[in-house]
Amino acid sequence: MSMLKDDKQVIIFDTTLRDGEQALPSSLSVKQKLQIALCLEQLGVDIIEAGFPISSPGDFEAVRTIGREVKNSVICGLSRCVEKDIDAVAESLKDVTDHYRIHTFIATSDIHVQDKLKKSFDDIVEMAVRSVRHARNYCDDVEFSCEDAGRTPIDHLCRMVESAIAAGATTINIPDTVGYTLPYEFGGIIETLFNRVPNIDKAVISVHCHNDLGMATANSVTALQHGARQIECAVNGLGERAGNCALEEVAMIIRTRSSYLNGLYTNVVAENIARASQMVAGICGEPVPPHKAIVGANAFAHSSGIHQDGVLKNRSTYEIITPESIGIKENNLHMTARSGRHMIKACLDKLGYKEGTYDLNEIYQRFLSLADKKGQVFDYDLEALLFFSNSEEEETQFTLEKMNVLSGGKDLIPTASVAIKIGKRTKVESGTGNGPVDAVFNCITRLTGIRCELTKYNITAKGSGMNAQGQVDVDVMYNGRQYHGKGLSTDVIEASALALIHACNSIYRAQIIEQEKKEEQETK
Ligand code: KIV
Ligand code: ZN
Repeated sequence: MSMLKDDKQVIIFDTTLRDGEQALPSSLSVKQKLQIALCLEQLGVDIIEAGFPISSPGDFEAVRTIGREVKNSVICGLSRCVEKDIDAVAESLKDVTDHYRIHTFIATSDIHVQDKLKKSFDDIVEMAVRSVRHARNYCDDVEFSCEDAGRTPIDHLCRMVESAIAAGATTINIPDTVGYTLPYEFGGIIETLFNRVPNIDKAVISVHCHNDLGMATANSVTALQHGARQIECAVNGLGERAGNCALEEVAMIIRTRSSYLNGLYTNVVAENIARASQMVAGICGEPVPPHKAIVGANAFAHSSGIHQDGVLKNRSTYEIITPESIGIKENNLHMTARSGRHMIKACLDKLGYKEGTYDLNEIYQRFLSLADKKGQVFDYDLEALLFFSNSEEEETQFTLEKMNVLSGGKDLIPTASVAIKIGKRTKVESGTGNGPVDAVFNCITRLTGIRCELTKYNITAKGSGMNAQGQVDVDVMYNGRQYHGKGLSTDVIEASALALIHACNSIYRAQIIEQEKKEEQETK
C-alpha cells in the first residue's frame, strides 16, 4: 500500500521521536512527545515514527496517545523481528487510528548477524519473512528495515529485500546504520537493488542514513537520484551518535534544487521548519549549533561588509534560500565591526533618517568603536549615536548596586532585594517570583518603571571549569521594538539582573530619543 501520489513525490518519514529520542540523555514525557508530534503534523510530515512500544510502558503510551491525536500523518511504531514486539505496535495503534504502520527490522550485515545475533543469514531471512507476514495480519502498511544495510554484502541484501517484499512488506528501508558509506557508494547500492530485485516495484524504497562521517544528507539525496522515494530523517538531525539525516536539510534541498532533482517534491510546509526546529531543540534540551545548515542562528546572518553590501543590493548574491521561506522573520544583517558604511546607511534609512541629516563618515567611525566594544550593535544603538555624544553614550541611567536572593527548597518562596542606582540616587525594592530570576526581574521592573516583555532568555558558559562565567542574553519587547541585553558574572542570577538592566538602559535612551524627535516635530 503506497502513499505516493506520483513518481516525483518523496515521502518524509520522521524519526525524531524514536531514533532522535533514543539519543537523548533522558526520555521525553508522553506530553512532550505529543507536542512534538503535533508540530510534525503541521510541518507536513507524512509518517511519524512515534516510538518503540515494546521498549517501555512510556513509549507504548506515547505511541497510543499520538495515534489518537494526530490526524494528518500516518503513525508508525518500531519492532524487532519478534512477534511480541509486533503485537505491541499493533496493540498501541489498532484501536486508535484506521491507518498505521508497523516498522520491523533485523540486522543483515555479517558482523551483526554473526557477532550480535549469532545466527546464520538463512535464519535471519526466515525471521524477517515470518515477522513481515505476522505484521501484515494486523495492517496493510508494513515497513521492513535491513539494519546495517550499508555494510551488508550486496547478494545478501538483494535476497533479503526480495524475500521481505514477497512476504508483504510495502516499504523496504535501507539504513546506513553506522554512517559508513559515501554518496557514490550508497547510490550504487540503491541502483543495484533496482536492477537486481525482481519484485522491487511492489514496494517503496526508503533510506535511513546516519551521520557518523557527516554524509547522512548527501547519502539520502543520492539515494533519491537512484530511485528511493522515502527519506527517514529527524528534526535538527537528532539521532543515535552523530545523528540522522536532518529533516530540514533534505526538505530544503528538494525544494531548492527540485529541477536538478527532476521535479522531486515533498509535502513539507517549509514555513513551519524554524518553529519545529526551535520546539524540538527546546523540548529535547539539545540546542542547535549556530552554524547548523538551514536552522542555525547564523544560517542567514551576513556578517562581512562585502556580503552585507551584496545582500543589500540583491539578496540572492549570498542567499540561496530566504529566512522567510522557513518561517524566520528576524533581521539577518548583523551590525558588527565587519559591517561597511553601506550597511550602516541602509539601517539608518530603515529607521527613517535621510542621508544628509547626519555625517555618515563620523557615525561610521563611532559605530566601529562601539562595535569593537560591544560585538553586535543593534538599530537602537545606532540611533543613539545620532543623538548622544561620545561621553553621554558612556553614561547609564540604571546601575546594579547590590542584590540579595533567597531561593531553593520546596518550602521557600523565591524572594529578592535589589538596589539600583538611578541617575544619582539609589533605590531598593524587594519582591517574590516564580523563581529567583523572576523575583529579581520583578524588582528591576518596579525600580526602572520599564515594563517590558521578556521574549528570549539564554544562558551560556564562558570559559571552562571553576573560572567559567555565566553569560545571560535577554531579548525584550518594549513599545513594539526589540531590545537586547547581556550580563556576565560567575553568578548566573546576577548575570540575569545585569542583562535586564542593560536592556532597560537601551530602552531608556530610546525613550529620550523618541521624546527629542517629538519635540523636534512640534517645533517644525
Ligand atoms: O539505524 C538503523 O538501522 C535504525 C533502524 C531501526 C531503522 O534505526
Ligand atoms: Zn537509526
